[in-house]
Amino acid sequence: MRLLFVGDVVGSIGRDMIKEYVPKLKEKYRPQITIINGENAAGGRGITEKIYREFLESGAQAVTLGNHTWDNKEIFDFIDQAKYLVRPANFPENNPGKGLVYIKYNAEEIAVISLQGRTFMQTSDCPFAKAEELIQEAKERTSIIFVDFHAEATSEKQAMGWFLDGKVTAVIGTHTHVQTADNRILPGGTAFMSDVGMTGPYDAILGMEKEAVLKRFTTGLPVRFEVPKDGRSQLSGVIIDLDMKTGKAKKIERILINDDVPLYS
Ligand SMILES: [Fe+2]
Repeated sequence: MRLLFVGDVVGSIGRDMIKEYVPKLKEKYRPQITIINGENAAGGRGITEKIYREFLESGAQAVTLGNHTWDNKEIFDFIDQAKYLVRPANFPENNPGKGLVYIKYNAEEIAVISLQGRTFMQTSDCPFAKAEELIQEAKERTSIIFVDFHAEATSEKQAMGWFLDGKVTAVIGTHTHVQTADNRILPGGTAFMSDVGMTGPYDAILGMEKEAVLKRFTTGLPVRFEVPKDGRSQLSGVIIDLDMKTGKAKKIERILINDDVPLYS
């Protein structure tokens, strides 16, 4: 089985990349499962119901979130009905939504888990303890478990990779928006990558207008960051091949599409 995961979609530029390239990637790589991180999809902060539905229509079976989950208030109107929307599982217990979702593929089920890191992030429950709890729950139903670890610190992401090695199919990092080149299969059979990267504006700083970010750095004054409305774009993702019986990963391949690295180069 092959799984495509597309990293943090930022704004309308990122959403246009999903519409254009997810069908092309499906044609080229033929994944059975597609998952998208959409936590920055609505103007860089959060997601709306319309965008969530667009992602499903583009071919995603699940959409993961992160620290911007609650930033677009519309989320509260639809998260409890959105069956395939996955917010970090280690948010407080009484929060709406869920952090573990099951996707169906023929007779198989794939568990999708979202977790958020605690280093240089807002406070949350322990992602390691929550991971253990959810994996135990998911193992009752399937051996195929995908974990999106939304975290800032590379060390915390690597720690999660090793912590879950042999227990899950993949631990893929999101949030830092720059694709890392450390994709590998850990000895226990877990696909790992510190960060899948961002899908959105290419000539920007982590997806935000560079002029505003530069002003913040050069003046220290408070500046509101916005996603550029137009300009060049990129898509970041990863392809994972896995054994359906054991749930172990066999291969992990980076995908990066932009003007410097076109899809069919
Ligand atoms: Fe984030």
